[in-house]
Amino acid sequence: MSDSAFAYHVSPYRYIARYKNGVWEDGFLSDDPSIVLNESACVLQYAQNVFEGLKARRTADGKIIVFRPDRNASRMTESCMRMAMPVYPEDLFLKAVDDVVKANADVIPPYGDGSSFYLRPFMIGTDPVLGVKPASEYEFRIFGSPVGRYFSSMIKLRICDLDRVAPHGTGHVKAGLNYAMSLYAITEAHALGYDENLYLDAATRTYIEETGGANIFFITKDNKLVTPDSGTILPSITRDSLLRVAADYLGLETEERPIALSEIADFTECGLCGTAAVISPVGSIDDHGTVLSFFRNAPEESSVTHMLREVLTEIQQGDRPAPKGWIREVCPD
Ligand code: PLP
Ligand code: COI
Repeated sequence: MSDSAFAYHVSPYRYIARYKNGVWEDGFLSDDPSIVLNESACVLQYAQNVFEGLKARRTADGKIIVFRPDRNASRMTESCMRMAMPVYPEDLFLKAVDDVVKANADVIPPYGDGSSFYLRPFMIGTDPVLGVKPASEYEFRIFGSPVGRYFSSMIKLRICDLDRVAPHGTGHVKAGLNYAMSLYAITEAHALGYDENLYLDAATRTYIEETGGANIFFITKDNKLVTPDSGTILPSITRDSLLRVAADYLGLETEERPIALSEIADFTECGLCGTAAVISPVGSIDDHGTVLSFFRNAPEESSVTHMLREVLTEIQQGDRPAPKGWIREVCPD
């Protein structure tokens, strides 16, 4: 599995809970990966959907651990509230993560081969609507898939002329509609040889926001970690962890602030961070033909980005002590 892509592989069990008449019914595990919906289900007509992404990994001593699932649970709460959906209780979310991990233990990749078990919690509005309004029935699910790397090597970004989210919109939550908005642009970017789009703030098109599926960070000449402060990007759990690793494990200065497109030529390193992306070094950003390169003066292996990735992935893998509350061990029944 180590070098295979980040792709869906059906796994034996998924968790399902249904919301009807204003209450969540008891959840259960199912071996059926299909969903049958009415043609006018709210998710199909008006994209009423939210989702999450987190990873379970095997440790060197054979345990299975999940990285900061409580943060995914609370971010899903925020997403549901923004999308007028009922909140799935966070304690039940965590229990559902445990259930899916335990039920699929046989397909969780072994320690040390670079792959992991990606969990995809999501919620959809299931009953038919025709006028524009939220559904009254919902389904919460978590499925899992063994995955490999999302990006293969030093990645190439381009500044995107399309916007993915709007001011006062849904950029700060994980709603499927934000990703639908990015599909045209990612197809075009791939066709032109870029790995991802880098979006600017839609209000002024002056500041760096994030890519279609990950937050961005930069390293300054004097080794400071700088990352955008914006109300229209997804609050990445990986980024939050990275800021903590930089400050507490590596003693680096960190800064969250608006980052103007005009200043990125001053940075020496650039990377993407996210559950799928982990920490992926960015080799270049193409701003309409002006190509800014990173890792210019030294190989990536001796960079700050490399050190950050090593420490964070050791924590995520259970090879290095983690800050309190970051690792949830899932014990088989
Ligand atoms: N930004 C976007 C748009 C994403 O889709 C993701 C992935 O979840 C992230 C950032 C990174 O967030 P996290 O680190 O919580 O996975
Ligand atoms: C994740 O990292 O969990 C995401 O949802 C990003 C997506 C591009 C797979």
